[in-house]
Amino acid sequence: MKAPRSASADRFFSHIVSSMRNGVIAFRRDGTLALVNDEAYHIFGLTRGPRDVGRPFSDVLRERPEIVRVLSGAFELSHLPNRAELRLKDLDRVIGYTLSQVKDDDGTPIGAVLFFKDLTRVEQLEERERLRDRLASLGEMAAGIAHELKNPLAGIEVMAGLLRRQVPDSKDAQSLLADILSEAKLANAIVVEMLEFVRPVRLQVERTDLADVLQQSVTMAESKAPRGKVAVTTRVEPGLPMIEGDHHQLSQVFTNLIANAFEALDGKGRITISAITSAIEADPAFAGVHEPTPAVVVDVSDDGPGVPADLTDRIFNPFFTTKPQGSGLGLAIVRKIVDAHDGRIDISSAPETGTRFRVTLPVTSASGWFK
Ligand SMILES: Nc1ncnc2c1ncn2[C@@H]1O[C@H](COP(=O)(O)OP(=O)(O)O)[C@@H](O)[C@H]1O
Ligand SMILES: [Mg+2]
Repeated sequence: MKAPRSASADRFFSHIVSSMRNGVIAFRRDGTLALVNDEAYHIFGLTRGPRDVGRPFSDVLRERPEIVRVLSGAFELSHLPNRAELRLKDLDRVIGYTLSQVKDDDGTPIGAVLFFKDLTRVEQLEERERLRDRLASLGEMAAGIAHELKNPLAGIEVMAGLLRRQVPDSKDAQSLLADILSEAKLANAIVVEMLEFVRPVRLQVERTDLADVLQQSVTMAESKAPRGKVAVTTRVEPGLPMIEGDHHQLSQVFTNLIANAFEALDGKGRITISAITSAIEADPAFAGVHEPTPAVVVDVSDDGPGVPADLTDRIFNPFFTTKPQGSGLGLAIVRKIVDAHDGRIDISSAPETGTRFRVTLPVTSASGWFK
């Protein structure tokens, strides 16, 4: 006779099964259930009944006929499915599964066990991957076009400049040529932004002082958009930690946000920029496992007209603009750079108070660990 397994080993075993991230269903030769773990109920959208173990699987799982069919084949098929996929139509879920027989010491099948995993998320990820590939090739095309446009545009600028010198006395010609020059400049600026947008972000990560970045960004924003009489206040918390980030690209982020604020304020109003220490809470799935990540929060606020509530979802989309001469790429670039830093950007806006963009950047970016 075999030594009986100790009760504590049994309990240990059942803890293993219940904490598995895979679904497990085991049943005996007579079709009665021996074990169903929590993940299995979860994936099938069922709740555990007090006496499920010991009942026929065809009974307990009757709401999932696809599974009953698979389990029923356990002792009939000569080759049991290994890494097969099954779509649960009612639940709109896909599971990947392996069905194996359980044999006794003589090799006689005494039961079977189904291991499975919810693949729905994997499928969604694959779908996103395909979309990303498609966007990447679109991006390459856009980059190609932008490059091709740069030369003729530069040519137009140079030649219009030359022509201007040839007709110094014609006022009409001068004014037309000035228009041509400014339109060409505008087109060029859009091309440059488009190149920035489609270029994959490659971060040159260094220890970066955000106080420096913010100061530079104010100056750069002034060259992008007229500041007028707008007052800018910058408050950086004393002892703000340096962050691991790309100095140049972070300057772009804040330059774009501040330039947008200048444009929204149209020459009068107030911009407040603040930077404080904070933390990013762990993903709820890991709460208690991972500590919150140290982070820095930078707010760029203005007391301008605000963004209408029905537009806040769209302003980050490439080419979305409400300005006659806007490219609509500023915030799309901002989002791309913030994402590359594993950061977050949120907006809160109301007509009475103005607009606040909040950029949260981890002090050490997670992707940095893998580089
Ligand atoms: N601070 C702000 N206040 C009000 N509206 C804003 C602000 N920042 C951005 N927006 C809105 O978001 C749109 C998109 O901005 P952006 O992507 O920078 O493109 P662009 O500046 O070329 O229009 C702007 O056209 C504007 O409608
Ligand atoms: Mg802009």
